[in-house]
Amino acid sequence: MPETTTLLTPASIAGAAYIVAALLFIMSLAGLSRHETSRAGVGYGIAGMAIALVATVWVTFAGAWGTPAVTTGLILLVVAVIVGAAIGLWRARVVAMTGMPELIALLHSFVGLAAVLVGWNGALDETGMTGALLDIHHAEVFIGVFIGAVTFTGSIVAFLKLSARMKSAPLMLPGKNALNLGALVAFVVLTVWYVVTPELWLLVVVTLLALALGWHLVASIGGGDMPVVISMLNSYSGWAAAAAGFLLNNDLLIVTGALVGSSGAYLSYIMCKAMNRSFISVIAGGFGIAAPSSSGEVEGETHEVDAEAVAALLSDASTVIITPGYGMAVAQAQYPVAELTSRLRERGVEVRFGIHPVAGRLPGHMNVLLAEAKVPYDIVEEMDEINDDLAATDVVLVIGANDTVNPAAAEDPGSPIAGMPVLRVWEAKNVVVFKRSMSAGYAGVANPLFYRDNAQMLFGDAKQRVEDILRAL
Ligand code: TAP
Repeated sequence: MPETTTLLTPASIAGAAYIVAALLFIMSLAGLSRHETSRAGVGYGIAGMAIALVATVWVTFAGAWGTPAVTTGLILLVVAVIVGAAIGLWRARVVAMTGMPELIALLHSFVGLAAVLVGWNGALDETGMTGALLDIHHAEVFIGVFIGAVTFTGSIVAFLKLSARMKSAPLMLPGKNALNLGALVAFVVLTVWYVVTPELWLLVVVTLLALALGWHLVASIGGGDMPVVISMLNSYSGWAAAAAGFLLNNDLLIVTGALVGSSGAYLSYIMCKAMNRSFISVIAGGFGIAAPSSSGEVEGETHEVDAEAVAALLSDASTVIITPGYGMAVAQAQYPVAELTSRLRERGVEVRFGIHPVAGRLPGHMNVLLAEAKVPYDIVEEMDEINDDLAATDVVLVIGANDTVNPAAAEDPGSPIAGMPVLRVWEAKNVVVFKRSMSAGYAGVANPLFYRDNAQMLFGDAKQRVEDILRAL
């Protein structure tokens, strides 16, 4: 009688679960690309991750339930998951929206560290591998450790810069481009060397080299380019996870890593285009970017107004554009801003929002806040859609934005943010800037907008000032 084989092995069932999880992750990315479907997108992502986790734990222990090794392994795993989930839940609950980029940077560093540890584990445990397979394994170990270590220190520097624990100005070491290129060449040489003679000291050297390179790459990038760095590190963390997937022989990790890696790279590219930055120069740690030649200092007189005067200005306006920025998030002013919008619309004023691609501190930051406050999507427009309409607008309310409305970007070629497209709010008939002081924005560049004749400063916390305007209306 022919032997019957079953297709339902633990590995094949887990493989099927991985395909379902991978599809859910793709659906999640598709859902997250639009406001209306973003909630569903998050739901698909959670479902995919739950399936992936259960399948991975199950396939790891299947067939050996009840043995002492599996029981100890399971107990360790459950404890680790409980501790990790508790810390994750606590951080996610207490983090303010404005602190999200720091948290994301920190989480990327964990992915990098995990890839380094998986790589080292792969180097120390090579049982059952011989010949060409072993050579490929050595290359995988080296590449995984390298990407992981770059991601690890790069993300830590991004975390330190975003949380203002480190200066956001770019580190300008002499010959920084040569240093980066030299590190890459050294990596290639060391990889070949390790495949030919796999000695552990080579792995130590590449780990240290990559840690230093990650630190240098991100330290060399100035504050204005940080959004791109965050999404670039997101991409690196994806490639680090994919490399770990090859080492662990886990298809889902390879697919998920590639999804994160490629979507992060694409987002970085879109952001670079939006900020008129060279993609290559940013991912290469500011390669070819010269130090700014102008100090950007501005002198002149500002015109201060109070909430009553702004209310009067708004009462006479027929078109209003609101350009929110990081300060709106800090003040949590989105709710009174939404209230102001609906009050003005009831009076027949045309109100729209102009969103700069890097307003706030993370991609889509302003869109999330406005959606939270139930501002209708159809009056929230992107910078490119609204920029040409600003000149014909009666009043522009700049609520907690600074770098994203800085005319120096368009007019001063020596400015550190020269060439970055900005919302041309200064072309409007009247501009009211809501902020607490004369301090600079994230990129640390002075803003000549505040001294323009058509600009007025409404000092104070944005939420309180908008509420004052609502009362005066
Ligand atoms: P910023 O240039 O950061 O300026 C924010 C302004 O808000 C500051 O001038 C600050 O002035 C004011 N502010 C802070 N708290 C306030 C409060 N409670 N009430 C009123 N005003 C307040 O903002 P932006 O125009 O949104 O530009 C974003 C910057 O962050 C860009 O440089 C961008 O490159 C960078 N960045 C963006 C991202 C992404 S992906 N969006 C990620 C990282 C970095 P006062 O202190 O005087 O009040």
